[in-house]
Amino acid sequence: MPQIRVLPHAAICPDGAVFEVAQGESLCRSLLAHGINIEHACEMSKACTTCHVIVRKGFEGLVPSEEDEDDLLDRAWGLSPQSRLSCQVLVAAEPLEVEIPRYTINHARE
Ligand code: FES
Repeated sequence: MPQIRVLPHAAICPDGAVFEVAQGESLCRSLLAHGINIEHACEMSKACTTCHVIVRKGFEGLVPSEEDEDDLLDRAWGLSPQSRLSCQVLVAAEPLEVEIPRYTINHARE
């Protein structure tokens, strides 16, 4: 099973995390299932941007984002060329290294 490495995030997972998930699993659901409480304000319906992650390793192996995902990502805090909405990422064969941005769009508005 592909390994997911989550880089440390001060509030959500201060020590980072490493776990394995089955290929084809939703990245957002996998994070939540392993105690990493990433925001997912629209309940994974591709409408909010709060589940934004930066895929530092393994990005190229993912099915590319679609235009509506890219439109939402344009609003994300800390946008990177390797940004994705975690609720739209299905884990592929390659291991992933994932960074959760310091802020979500909700924080950025405050
Ligand atoms: S949870 Fe809202 S876009 Fe992913």
